[in-house]
Amino acid sequence: MADGADPPGVTLTVDGAAVAVPAGSTILDACRAAGKDQPTLCYLDNLTPVNACRVCVVEVDGNRTLAPSCSRPVEEGMAVGTDTDRVRHSRKMVYEFLASSADMGLVDEQTVRWMSYYGCDPARYGPQAGPVEDRDERTAGHHRIGDGHAAETVHQSVKVDNELYVRDYSRCILCYKCVEACGEDAQNTFAIAVAGRGFDARISTEFDVGLTDSACVFCGNCISVCPTGALMFRSEHELRAADMWEEDRQTVTRTVCSYCGVGCNLDLHVQDNRIVKVTSPIDHSVTSGHLCIKGRFGYEYVQELGDLAVTPIDEVLRRARG
Ligand code: SF4
Ligand code: SF4
Ligand code: FES
Repeated sequence: MADGADPPGVTLTVDGAAVAVPAGSTILDACRAAGKDQPTLCYLDNLTPVNACRVCVVEVDGNRTLAPSCSRPVEEGMAVGTDTDRVRHSRKMVYEFLASSADMGLVDEQTVRWMSYYGCDPARYGPQAGPVEDRDERTAGHHRIGDGHAAETVHQSVKVDNELYVRDYSRCILCYKCVEACGEDAQNTFAIAVAGRGFDARISTEFDVGLTDSACVFCGNCISVCPTGALMFRSEHELRAADMWEEDRQTVTRTVCSYCGVGCNLDLHVQDNRIVKVTSPIDHSVTSGHLCIKGRFGYEYVQELGDLAVTPIDEVLRRARG
């Protein structure tokens, strides 16, 4: 291809409508180009697709199985169906299985909307079983048989082992996003991975050590990609626990991190004149939403400004931290 020339295009149909996209695009790209956004959970524009959740599946004419739209490349002449009976049935089941085993109470509005669209009813699998605390010790090949009355869950206690963020794996749907962000897609630290097999699979540090004893460098990039709130700023966790997390009252101010010359964009989430968490825009050309520990968590000095004194948030955080 000559320099500056457009890449060759691929023409396909999405729900009967013709759409042309550059070669190498995914079916998800084509769906979006056709104005048909699709549900996703494990996919994010700044991560490599891992095909973990399967809520994005579509029907491709002539294919025996449904295809994950987030990773399957388009082909010339492909005919894609995004709202067929098979697609609706499959997506509904995936959402229901996830919601029957994990707490999806903090997923984004898009997911809530799709679950409603598909008429998901996770409760039909029975009431959720209570928390168990031995999930982290279970070995591969260990299978337990439920009592047949309650839906097996991943519920367990929240892991609070540092000042910066908590891990509530009761909310974990094993989407792998945190693993990707900790690994090759962003941080290259590899502090976390999936341990165990089957229903006992879970995200873990090496030998299940606490975060402070692991390879974690506390960049917080795992928090920013987590779709369920399983990974959360400790400040947000404590404010939610105290019923004081009020997103409607928060402002978000974009600024530039002042710690080094990279120039990462920061979005400061502020409630009651206090920074309660820091994110970074995913479409930033330098960092794609990823930060280091200083940009993500190094904001406390801003709050130590004497006269601003003590707000209810400070009181809650001080009490909770003992
Ligand atoms: S902790 Fe969050 S990002 Fe990591 S696998 Fe679980 S749901 Fe996905
Ligand atoms: S977040 Fe880290 S890498 Fe980015 S500008 Fe701040 S100190 Fe530099
Ligand atoms: S979003 Fe495509 S498999 Fe999860």
